[in-house]
Amino acid sequence: MTDNIQLASGSKLPSIGLGLWKIAPDDVAPTITSAIDIGYRHFDSACDYGNEAEVGNALQQVLQSGKVKRDDLWITSKLWNTYHRAEHVRPALEKALSDLQLDYLDLYLIHFPISLQFIPFDKRYPPGWVTNPDEASPHMEPVAVPIRETWEAMQELKEAGLVKEIGVCNFNCALLRDLLSYAKIPPAVLQVEMHPLLTQEKLLRFCRENDIAVTAFSPLGALSYFSIGMAAEGESLLDREVIKQIAADHQCTPAQIILRWGVQRGTAIVPKSTHPDRLRENFSLFDFELTEDEMATINNLNENRRFNDPGKFGEEAFNTFMPIYE
Ligand code: A2P
Repeated sequence: MTDNIQLASGSKLPSIGLGLWKIAPDDVAPTITSAIDIGYRHFDSACDYGNEAEVGNALQQVLQSGKVKRDDLWITSKLWNTYHRAEHVRPALEKALSDLQLDYLDLYLIHFPISLQFIPFDKRYPPGWVTNPDEASPHMEPVAVPIRETWEAMQELKEAGLVKEIGVCNFNCALLRDLLSYAKIPPAVLQVEMHPLLTQEKLLRFCRENDIAVTAFSPLGALSYFSIGMAAEGESLLDREVIKQIAADHQCTPAQIILRWGVQRGTAIVPKSTHPDRLRENFSLFDFELTEDEMATINNLNENRRFNDPGKFGEEAFNTFMPIYE
């Protein structure tokens, strides 16, 4: 069993999605097939993940198998930073649709409030963060594109019927408030990093009060970041005594407790796994409920610890100081 989050438009975003970031191209098809068999219908993709063509092939296979219809699926993708100029937004979406072999997306998100110099598709796709990856000191090249310009082009995609919903990622309250001041179509969804070490209560409350649904990426916290050197030993939530105790009390796993906390506070979650047993585990969150005390205990783990921060990795990995949350 899964659950849905009703968006301002009335459409329903499945609470549990499969995050496709860091799934190697060869693993995409078996992972998506397993996920579909387990019951996943929500898939969280992006140009920048570098596997949209493989995701498209896998989706085609499951659609042709007759296991699911297009209407049953919720497919999200994201506009990359190099395509923020109005004239690049629709071509970027059309490229994603072509790779995904779809004629519409359920949700298209601005991936970051960061605009980088345009790189033509035939030069490099996905373009990634840096302008000059082959040089000794690759760096990002920011360009001054107002978010309003990008958002107005996003609105046109919805008006053209190419996407059902539009939204943003990695925005804070101030950016959202500014966006809401001019948006003809307000963002349906905000996607941000969110887990018990980064609870973001105020952002969540702001979104609730403004009818913006929230999707939590990296809902398990550090796990996704060990392999890329962005989390330190000891930061895994799975090893926390309080989480282990609550898991034992509910006869489930620590990962299920962390993910259940995410859905129970009203956010959608998009955990990634390529392992069928974990895919199943992460999808089995609706046959138990955390008590108010347990929710509060987990909330108290908050350390405002952000793993995915361009203000940090921008400089470390791409020689470019790119703070956005400060
Ligand atoms: P794996 O794919 O090997 O299962 P993200 O934060 O991007 O959602 O990634 C989640 C990370 O946690 C991945 O590295 C994934 O690895 C791992 N993972 C996903 N589900 C579980 C689980 N139930 N228990 C332990 N690790 C998990």
